[in-house]
Amino acid sequence: MSTHEKDSAGFYRLAQLDQIPEDDMLQVPMEDEGVELEVALTIVDGEIYAFRDVCPHMAFPLSVGYINGTTLHCVGHAWTFDLKSGKAVVPPVKKGLKLYETRLDGDTVWVKVDPLF
Ligand code: FES
Repeated sequence: MSTHEKDSAGFYRLAQLDQIPEDDMLQVPMEDEGVELEVALTIVDGEIYAFRDVCPHMAFPLSVGYINGTTLHCVGHAWTFDLKSGKAVVPPVKKGLKLYETRLDGDTVWVKVDPLF
């Protein structure tokens, strides 16, 4: 059982386009098969980005941070991430964002989330 509609390709219906702020983040809590997680959504330069709302450093919610261009700043300990690649910029560590594929269907935003990863 899921809190959000899921299609056969594994995409969840998580938001309407007008709910997602430009250059800021929307947190969408979701649950599927007993697994709870938060997904963060943002729009930068017309592109929709979706990622797990957990910093890979010490698990601060990334959605309380801020975005400058395509750089996401975590307020926990000032790590920064590139939204396009998901890679950590500062420090240049291997841990990066868990980015999710998105699909726009009319004004509905679908996100391919694997709750187990
Ligand atoms: S929790 Fe994000 S930088 Fe430490």
